[in-house]
Amino acid sequence: MAGEDSARGNSNEETGSNPLDTKMNRRKFLKASAISAGVVGLGGIALSSGNATTVIETPTANVPSTSNADPFASQIVTLNINGKDVQVGVEPRDMLNNILRDSLGLIGTKRPCNRMECGGCTVLIDDVPHMSCTYPAFRAVGHKIITVEGYTMSSPEATVLNALQQAWVEEDGGQCSGCQPGQIMSATALLLNNQNPSLDDIKTAMSGNICRCGNYAGIIASIQTAALKLQGGSA
Ligand code: FES
Ligand code: FES
Repeated sequence: MAGEDSARGNSNEETGSNPLDTKMNRRKFLKASAISAGVVGLGGIALSSGNATTVIETPTANVPSTSNADPFASQIVTLNINGKDVQVGVEPRDMLNNILRDSLGLIGTKRPCNRMECGGCTVLIDDVPHMSCTYPAFRAVGHKIITVEGYTMSSPEATVLNALQQAWVEEDGGQCSGCQPGQIMSATALLLNNQNPSLDDIKTAMSGNICRCGNYAGIIASIQTAALKLQGGSA
């Protein structure tokens, strides 16, 4: 039997150890582990060596474990839209598109896919086109937002918007028109920077805007016509 015990590693005759000491050691080990785990839970890592315990502070050590602030609460913010400051309630989960359409009634900006695939929700933020369906509304605070309704402003953006919308009518730029506000906003960003774009310039600038009707020829013709109008040509 001693041989069997030895084979199982349970013999104390060979090692001279007392099984009670083993249990005590295990108990001591579990106790030390529990204490260490408690220390880690407080935001540190405990390293034990002999009787000494070293606590290494982690970045979470000073983070309060509880907070009374509701992280999802709506806050009133000011957004600058089409040249006007507008106060509106915004939750952290709100995208700019939701605020424009659902809170402010600016439904010229569309939301065809709501997942950054079509460009139909494009607006300008500081004159750069962005898909508003995935642009957090909070990020737009302090920036200049232009939507397709911005043609009523007195500004360079409005001048381009008006030229484009007139050309769109003349060239039949829209069919079902679901994509058109987004197309026009991307074209506005292009013509603000380049009033004599090549065909490649236009294709590159418009590459994120999908037209399910496939009316790309009409869209390109509209942009070229608007560019000529802005250059003072007879388009
Ligand atoms: S609705 Fe935003 S990309 Fe389609
Ligand atoms: S005109 Fe219908 S999707 Fe572009």
